[in-house]
Amino acid sequence: MRILLLGNGGREHALAWKICQSKLLTSLYIAPGNPGTAKLGTNLSIAASDIPAICKACADLQIDMVIVGPEDPLVKGIADAIQSEPTLQHIIVIGPNKTGAQLEGSKDFSKAFMQRHAIPTASYASFEAHQWEEARAYVLNHSLPVVLKADGLAAGKGVIICESHQDAENTLRQMLLEKQFGEASAKVVVESFLTGIELSVFALLDGRHYQVIGHAKDYKRIGEGDTGLNTGGMGCVSPVPFADAAFIKKVEERVIQPTVKGLQEEGIDYRGFLFVGLMNCNGEPYVIEYNCRMGDPETEVVMPRLQNDLLELCRHVGAQTIHQTNISYYPEHFATVMAVSGGYPGSFEKGKKIAGLEQSFPNQHLFFAGIQANDAGELVTSGGRVLAVTSKGNSMSEAVAESLSVLNQICFEGIFYRKDIGYEFK
Ligand code: AMP
Ligand code: GLY
Repeated sequence: MRILLLGNGGREHALAWKICQSKLLTSLYIAPGNPGTAKLGTNLSIAASDIPAICKACADLQIDMVIVGPEDPLVKGIADAIQSEPTLQHIIVIGPNKTGAQLEGSKDFSKAFMQRHAIPTASYASFEAHQWEEARAYVLNHSLPVVLKADGLAAGKGVIICESHQDAENTLRQMLLEKQFGEASAKVVVESFLTGIELSVFALLDGRHYQVIGHAKDYKRIGEGDTGLNTGGMGCVSPVPFADAAFIKKVEERVIQPTVKGLQEEGIDYRGFLFVGLMNCNGEPYVIEYNCRMGDPETEVVMPRLQNDLLELCRHVGAQTIHQTNISYYPEHFATVMAVSGGYPGSFEKGKKIAGLEQSFPNQHLFFAGIQANDAGELVTSGGRVLAVTSKGNSMSEAVAESLSVLNQICFEGIFYRKDIGYEFK
């Protein structure tokens, strides 16, 4: 099969690596990719969200399947664009259409969807600017902490947990009236705070059926012991001790099955990855959010742990036969640790030369995130999250220690990584 993978981060490097293991692969193209994916396929200098250019590349390169990494192209309608073009209709797109992508693209849509289908989630209300007085009263009477969320995509920054009513009113004003996140906060979801441990669960949907393909715990805060600002994700472990077969069964029965059924009942033909962000509240799963894609850095542990041929699974998505597959996992523990630029998630400098990448690490995966080649062909930093190192071990601690020992040999000015990934399970 001729595959086009969209995106350029650590998630896409991990997906590209997994795709390269497939016996079904003939050619892999990545748009735009990074220097890591360039070693596995052909990078195209096309932005992942440039829908007309992606459609043209699909035709020119006779692509059989498009696998979409990030949410942006999905929310903008890449799947719809490919499927509405008569010459491209044979292409299997792994990623939902624009309506399905609303599960991630609009928090109000996803909360209302969960309510319609009795899927466990925090109680909520949503408001627009013209409802200011009502919204203000709702927030001031809400129990604390209260969670305020911009309805639309806000680059992972649109969720604010407020500890006081004053803070909540100010945040609400900034979001709703001062349009802190532009159009994304033209509507605001106000919801109850959930207490528990978070888990990311991943399923592959074919429009009618699903398979769970993995889970992971993501460490989102910049500081050790889960302190400081939220980031895109500083590391992950999989499997997660509390996510045993009984817990995953609960997630399937209470969340994933009603989600698949609800999508079908609403006429949404959802084919692609579904990322369910959960809170484990005393053994009960509650949905924090849906994403219409794989997680980053979760993909960097989920793909190495998954034993199945990814393209074969994706081909079953196209044929709507994903239920006929059997998912299996490697028995080891997997951990990824993310190295980030100094200052991240605040402002940081780019273009720092990275030393150590020329070494070979045969037992680990080095997935490139914010890395580019400069004019001299040297690898330099180009983003906040720079490099994800994934290792496996007989225990979680062993896997984390392996990744740390690799990072100890990688160097760039300002490099930072958390050394306590998986800490609460050790
Ligand atoms: P999101 O952008 O929806 O992933 O939210 C970012 C983070 O905010 C989540 O990963 C949680 O840590 C936290 N969060 C979101 N909603 C809630 C909630 N209702 N209760 C507690 N924490 C939440
Ligand atoms: N790691 C969280 C996300 O991909 O949204």
